[in-house]
Amino acid sequence: MSGGAGGAAKACFSCHGLDGLGDGVSVPRLAGLDAGYLQKQMEDYASGIRPDKVMGPVAKPLDDRSRRAVAAYYASFPVRAAPASGAAPPRLWTLGDPARGLAPCADCHGAQAQGVGAGQPALGGQPAAYTLDQLQRWKRATRRNDPRGVMTTVAAKLTESEAAALAAWSETQPASPAPASGVASASAVAAAAAGSAASREARRRDR
Ligand code: HEC
Ligand code: HEC
Repeated sequence: MSGGAGGAAKACFSCHGLDGLGDGVSVPRLAGLDAGYLQKQMEDYASGIRPDKVMGPVAKPLDDRSRRAVAAYYASFPVRAAPASGAAPPRLWTLGDPARGLAPCADCHGAQAQGVGAGQPALGGQPAAYTLDQLQRWKRATRRNDPRGVMTTVAAKLTESEAAALAAWSETQPASPAPASGVASASAVAAAAAGSAASREARRRDR
């Protein structure tokens, strides 16, 4: 959390905030995201299949145990449940576009962008600029860490204005709490770390 051997400049909270909610511009929220998802991202930054000049050098020096621990810690951060925003989702979100073979985003990210299961993250409350940037990275195939290439396939079919509209809408959705969110305690963190490792193993097996 303090940046370890990388020093204070690598301290997570200096960019992601003390509340883990990000900076509202380009640094994503981590609070309340699934622990297994967060841990996978740290591994992918370190291995380079999710290349990023900021997060690569942060993730690389951490060992497995530390990556698991920071992931579990942020996953357990409390996020206040907020009512869904009134904004209607773009058509593509709920219905996709069968003619172009585009599945609805809602199938995998939830009707309110709250995420589905362990591997399909919540997009609610993520800065629109961050979300749009991720879609563009998949389109350029610089981010290549999506299992079975699901996001690469989706992003390749989106126009720039569709991607921007989807990112703008998901930002208006409330940051949802993690399924088992609560105040981080040592035992909750340990339990979450064990659980995320287990769910990761389970997902590996079904590949
Ligand atoms: C210097 C600023 C900075 C520091 C320090 C930093 N981050 Fe990040 N983090 C970012 C930015 C910017 C992104 C978005 C990068 C991208 O586009 O992939 C990000 C993305 C992430 C993501 C991906 C989230 C998602 O929704 O996919 C995770 C996980 C993460 N950071 C965890 C951490 C942890 C844990 C630490 C501390 C060990 C940390 N970060 C330190 C700036 C920072
Ligand atoms: C078949 C399932 C599926 C569909 C459909 C899908 N996604 Fe995803 N999406 C995923 C998975 C899985 C990931 C996580 C990949 C990883 O491990 O990094 C993801 C990640 C993302 C991320 C990165 C989030 C972050 O925190 O970095 C964004 C943004 C995103 N999807 C947007 C969309 C949008 C917009 C649509 C609809 C046009 C969509 N997705 C449709 C499965 C899907």
